[in-house]
Parts: sequence; structure tokens; C-alpha cells
Amino acid sequence: MQEKWWHNSVVYQVYPRSFKDSNNDGIGDLNGIIEKLDYLKELGINVIWLSPVYESPMDDNGYDISDYEDIAKEFGTMEEMDQLIDEANARGIKIIMDLVINHSSDEHSWFMESKSSRTNSKRDWYIWRDQNEDGTPPNNLRSIFGGSCWEYDKGTEQYFFHSFSKKQPDLNWENQDLREELYRMIRWWLDKGIGGFRVDAITFIKKPEKFKPVIADGQDGLRVVKPNYPGVGKFLAELKAESFAKYNIFTVAEAPGVELDQLSEYSGDDGYFDMLIRFDHVDMDMDESGQWYAKKDWTLLDFKHALTKNQEAIKENGWTALYLENHDQPRSLNRFIPKEDINNRSAKMLATTFFFLKGMPYIYQGQEIGMTNIEYETIDSYNDISSIDQYNVALEAGLSKEEALEVVHRRSRDNSRTPMQWSEEINGGFSNKEPWLQVNENYKQINVEKALEDKNSLFYFYQMLIQIRKDSTYSELLKYGVYEEHLNDHLDVYAYSRSLNDQKLLVITNFSNKEVHLNLEKRSKKIVLGNYDDTPLLNEIVTVRPYECMVYELD
Ligand code: NOJ
Ligand code: CA
Repeated sequence: MQEKWWHNSVVYQVYPRSFKDSNNDGIGDLNGIIEKLDYLKELGINVIWLSPVYESPMDDNGYDISDYEDIAKEFGTMEEMDQLIDEANARGIKIIMDLVINHSSDEHSWFMESKSSRTNSKRDWYIWRDQNEDGTPPNNLRSIFGGSCWEYDKGTEQYFFHSFSKKQPDLNWENQDLREELYRMIRWWLDKGIGGFRVDAITFIKKPEKFKPVIADGQDGLRVVKPNYPGVGKFLAELKAESFAKYNIFTVAEAPGVELDQLSEYSGDDGYFDMLIRFDHVDMDMDESGQWYAKKDWTLLDFKHALTKNQEAIKENGWTALYLENHDQPRSLNRFIPKEDINNRSAKMLATTFFFLKGMPYIYQGQEIGMTNIEYETIDSYNDISSIDQYNVALEAGLSKEEALEVVHRRSRDNSRTPMQWSEEINGGFSNKEPWLQVNENYKQINVEKALEDKNSLFYFYQMLIQIRKDSTYSELLKYGVYEEHLNDHLDVYAYSRSLNDQKLLVITNFSNKEVHLNLEKRSKKIVLGNYDDTPLLNEIVTVRPYECMVYELD
């Protein structure tokens, strides 16, 4: 592979709204992030992915942008943004921005102009269509956050298209002026010295040639809009050439719909992006419909299989985002560990699972202290637009209110959006004022202050993992070493090795509360880490205790 500065980077994702409120209005902000840079420096990360902070009416918490070159007032100012970039750079931390260019907000001046008349010069920057003869929308696609993808505009008597909420109209990528304006905006940000972009929902930018009626899948005669239509590659190649390729940065794209055998086209040395965020290992508990209530049972084999397939697909010159949670996913402890077994030990085991794979590890805020899901008692306490939609979908499908709420407890994006738990103080030290989203009541047990006082905490374990990746005798191996899965059929243990030249690491993680006896036909030269005080040497046969993890350098 071509060597890149970011190959040994570890990313920390900040969800600004929930990270730290510096002026006590109940909403996290840029100054709050600046205040906590030393904390992140101590953790050891060297990239921050900032979820959107641009001007926005916040219909989808900033993923609906009304000005790409301004900052939302509640988060701060452009001067503070520049200061954050500089202060982070001064600590060896690069900021990567979220790039949301499949859609804008309906309050963006572009859309307001586009909507003002059929002849406006920006009319074609969005997707407008006539209604059918019987007055129905152009077709029956369902938007991701509920209802038709088409919203009628009385003023100009046409429908506009939105893949997500109706306040997130899709941009028309067929229009060259629009594309050029987007590339200019991207370069404007890159010129500020940021480290790159996390690119949002990018495979949605290409629409079908014709919006023909589709076969419904049971939801109100509608079928959910799908990403990655043929032809998207032309736009992605141009996007890269006109913006990213001109800078020494990296891009990580959320690219739903991309198949594993398309990975080398979409990512890696010659791909449209440096790496993709894949969903295989987190979507295994959801059936084809993608509806939250349609729960699918999964086993550790599904998880291992998903990770291994991805590792194999990027073997040659690819890279990938390694993650277990983010602002769209529930907390990983709740997803992967039975409730009664969530503790410091199982959390360390889970951290070990993904940290030694090939790619770039992403830690989502609070993951490093073991934050967990929230269970609000009524749907009214939820803020997330898709939680409310999916609650209604569950009710329509015949679930009772209790059952629908249970679905939301399990899957809601608010699970990971509750305020960061800094201390035992009121509202977990996030803010003196009641936060925009209720803090998780376990903040007295789980918080940063406590974690920093306890040498055995998950925080220090992550700190060690980061240090091993970035700056140890294993750093080269962790960047470029060959991945191999072991004990592939084992139902409780995930084991893999990475090897480079004559160095080899073996990772063993036990996802069960049972002791398991393994014969790996391997001997350890050195114990790299473990989550029990007395990690045994590996001597052909090894007993792995409940939720134990061990990493060995092999003979
Ligand atoms: C993916 C983002 O991660 C999610 O939070 C957002 O709602 C959608 N894209 C729409 O922008
Ligand atoms: Ca604030």
C-alpha cells in the first residue's frame, strides 16, 4: 500500500450537541470541545470526527444544513471553529468535518430560491417533478424517516424529492453548477487545514433514470428508497478529482448499498474514498426490511463472518473504518453483551475485538468510559426523528405501545446521543441547565472523573490500545499485517491473528460468560495484554475465562 500519515490514526467521534456545554444553555458547543481537547489528548487519539456543526434548523440535528460556510449559532461562531482547528492541530489532532451533500436543509437559500419559481436559476439544483394525472406523487418511494419521498409545493405546483425528512430536500447532482459550487465549498474547508471529511449518505446522490412506480413492501403502499444506483461512480470520481485529491487528507464515506466486491472501486488507494463505513457487522440484528421492530436473531458467527469478509475484501490495498458504535447506533455494550454481564471486563473484551483489525479505529464519545443505552419511559422524551418514525411504523405493524417503546429502547439513535457523562455533578457535568436530551441516570457510576481516578478503568485500557496502535513495536504490523481468522466455527470465541514479516499477534476474545478451553496449536512469546490480572501464557492449550481477552505475540 502507499503509506499515508493517517494509517496509524485513531479517531474519536464528537457529537457536538451532547459533548460539553460551555455556556449553560443545555446544548453542547465548540467551546465545550476546545475545553476538552486535553482530555482527548490524554486518551491519545489524533483525529476528531465532528458531526455537523454548520448552520441548520436542526430537524435532523445538523444533518440538514442551511449554510455550509457558517456555524450554527447554538454551537458557536466561525472564529471559534477556526480556533478549534488550530488548538487541535497544536495538540497533534486533526479535525475531520461531516460532509452532508446528498441533501441540504429546506431552509438553505439555494432551496428557497429553487422553490421560488419554476424558472429560477436554481430550480434545477433540486429534484422537481410534476404530479401524476390523478394528482398522486411521481412515484411511491418511501423516505428513510417516514412518508413519501415526495413533498408537494403549492406555490409552483410540483413535487420535490427527499430521501430523508421533508426538511432535507435532495440536491440534484445532475446539475453541473451545483456540483461545482459544492467542490468549491469543500476546498474552502480544506484550505482551513482540516484533516479530511466523513462523507454522509453519499451513495444516495444518484437517482434512478425515471421515477417509475415500485413494488411496495407493506409500508403504506410505499417502498423505502435505495442507494447506490448505477452511474453514481461518475459523480464520485469527479468529486474526488475536484476536491479531495488536491489535498493530503483522508475521506471516510458512509456508502450504503456498496457490495463487498465493489470495495476496491469505492475505497482504498484507487477508490473514490480512502475507506468506507460498512454496516454488515451492526445490521445483523435487522432483517431485509430495515424496520427496527423486525428483529433478527444473530450469533457470534454472524459478527465474525461480517468482520472477516470485510477484512478479506480490503486485504490488498484497502482500508476500512473499524467501529462498534456511533451517533446512529445504540451503545455497543448493550448490543453485544447481555445486560447482566455489562461491566468493566466485558467492555475491555469488546474494545480488544475491533482494535487490532486492519483499518482505522473509531471511538464514539462515551464509549471509552462504557456509556450505555437509555430507556425513556415515554416516546415524548425521545428527540430523534427516526425513533419517532420507527415507533409509528411498529404501531402500524400491530405492536402495542409497550412493545413499540421496547423497540425504541433497543434501537433508538438517542441511546448514543445522551449527554456525555463527565462527573457526578448535576447533569453529569455536561451542563448546569437541563440538557436538550435527558442525561442517562447512571452518570453517578459511569463518568469521566471516576474513570480517570481508577487505573483499572476502561479509559486507561483504551489509552493503552491507542498507544499500541500508534506507537509501539506492533504499529507497523497493525497497519499492514495480514489478517487471518482462527476457530472460525467457534460460537463463543472470536480469534484472529495479524502478521507482518516474522512478527505475529494473536487476539482472543471470549463473548460468553463460560470458561472455554482452546487448542490453538500456538505458543506465546509475550503477553501483550489481557483483562484479568493473571493472563496465562499460551502453551498450545489455553483456558479462556468469562469475557476474557488476551493478545499475544507468537513464537
Ligand atoms: C447518516 C447520518 O449519520 C445520520 O445521522 C443522518 O440522519 C443521515 N445520514 C441523513 O443525513
Ligand atoms: Ca451551549
